Amino acid sequence: MRNKQEIVNALLAARSASPSKQACSFAPVNIALCKYWGKRDAELNLPNTSSLSVTLAPLGTNTTISLIDQADVVLLNCREQQASTPFSRKLVAFLDLFRTKENFYYLVDTENNIPTAAGLASSASGFAALVKALDQLHGWNLSTIELSILARLGSGSACRSIEEGFVEWQAGTRPDGMDSYGILLPERWPDLRLGVLTISTQEKAISSRQAMSITAATSTLYESWPRQVSKDMVSLKKAIAEQNFDLFGETAERNALAMHATMLSSWPPVFYWLSQTVEIAQKIWKLREEGLPLFFTMDAGPNIKLLFLQKNQQEIESQFKDVKVITPFN
Ligand code: PMV
Repeated sequence: MRNKQEIVNALLAARSASPSKQACSFAPVNIALCKYWGKRDAELNLPNTSSLSVTLAPLGTNTTISLIDQADVVLLNCREQQASTPFSRKLVAFLDLFRTKENFYYLVDTENNIPTAAGLASSASGFAALVKALDQLHGWNLSTIELSILARLGSGSACRSIEEGFVEWQAGTRPDGMDSYGILLPERWPDLRLGVLTISTQEKAISSRQAMSITAATSTLYESWPRQVSKDMVSLKKAIAEQNFDLFGETAERNALAMHATMLSSWPPVFYWLSQTVEIAQKIWKLREEGLPLFFTMDAGPNIKLLFLQKNQQEIESQFKDVKVITPFN
């Protein structure tokens, strides 16, 4: 089994469908503390390494889906999307995997409550909410593992948005990816805070899919990435279990910087940082030197996400006037 359709067919084979008229589901955004960077299978979004993230509910996607009999209709934040838009094309291609009859169409109404200016990706929460809604609509009763596998087929990191909290995406080794999915860690960390600093909301010039592929193919530093991840996964799990914030922050920041270093050493080089990103990183390092326990992480873009504890929230808010603070374990 090496293509998406075969995986979907295998997962749904034993499910008896009893469709309802409409279903609605929510999935949270997630931010990786140990990143997913590089695929062993680009069709099935199978990663080279495991990764670990935290979800950021209530930020996420609400999706309502119903069956209709003409053609698919796609709404994003209450606006109907033309069939030719990249958003519609990606969504409809994904829905095609689940059509059991030919004259069988979906009305998908997707709402992201992530402010567009927040600099947080919505594709992970979008695909996770969609597979949860499809499962309810068809009455398949899939397990969280099966839902995570299906979400991964839409966007890799979506497999970490099925459950809420710290989620480990186990890379797995099977060519069909049936052992590659997100698992919820039992720990919660109520004092943990995340601060989003939005530097740019412009669409990135190069997608994470392209950037991952250029990096894995050409970066000399990429060779050491799996070793970095193995170490960081152990440190992060220890930090979470012991609520050791210094270990947690240091590991997450190093991991993000190592990921960006692999990009910068690829050819053509991939560099998402803007001058403001550098300024903020330097400000964080200075504040840390002065004793403030503050760390950061970044995804494939110029925006910075601060990591800190509740007791330092006031100080952080006075240092960074535009920060949007999120409480992952509310
Ligand atoms: O799942 P994708 O294709 O959007 O890739 C996500 C890549 C990073 O955000 C940079 C890292 C991660 O683990 O989320």
